[in-house]
Amino acid sequence: MSHKMNIIDRKGNQTTINVEEGMTIKDAIEDELSPDNYGVCGGCCACGTCHVYVKSSDFNKLENKENEEITTLESLALEPNSYSRLGCQVQFKKEYDNITITIAPD
Ligand code: FES
Repeated sequence: MSHKMNIIDRKGNQTTINVEEGMTIKDAIEDELSPDNYGVCGGCCACGTCHVYVKSSDFNKLENKENEEITTLESLALEPNSYSRLGCQVQFKKEYDNITITIAPD
């Protein structure tokens, strides 16, 4: 079952992409938009390049971060804020339908 996710790219352009439940936000973004320098470690929580900002009103719909994600966000992600997530650590759920994500700077 496919759902929708709104993505704002690094140039500020918004697109809506399809995402399957269980897929990571990183994989969905890579498949549809393949931004440069995004998801470099392949989803191992080791690079911080899959960093995204979740729209503030959507942020609390997501499951909480594990410690590993917090550590990588703090140590490697560029310009993290309180709505930061690592795309490789968030598996899409149907409850997330229509959330809006901004790809962080590289
Ligand atoms: S892809 Fe490297 S931390 Fe997510």
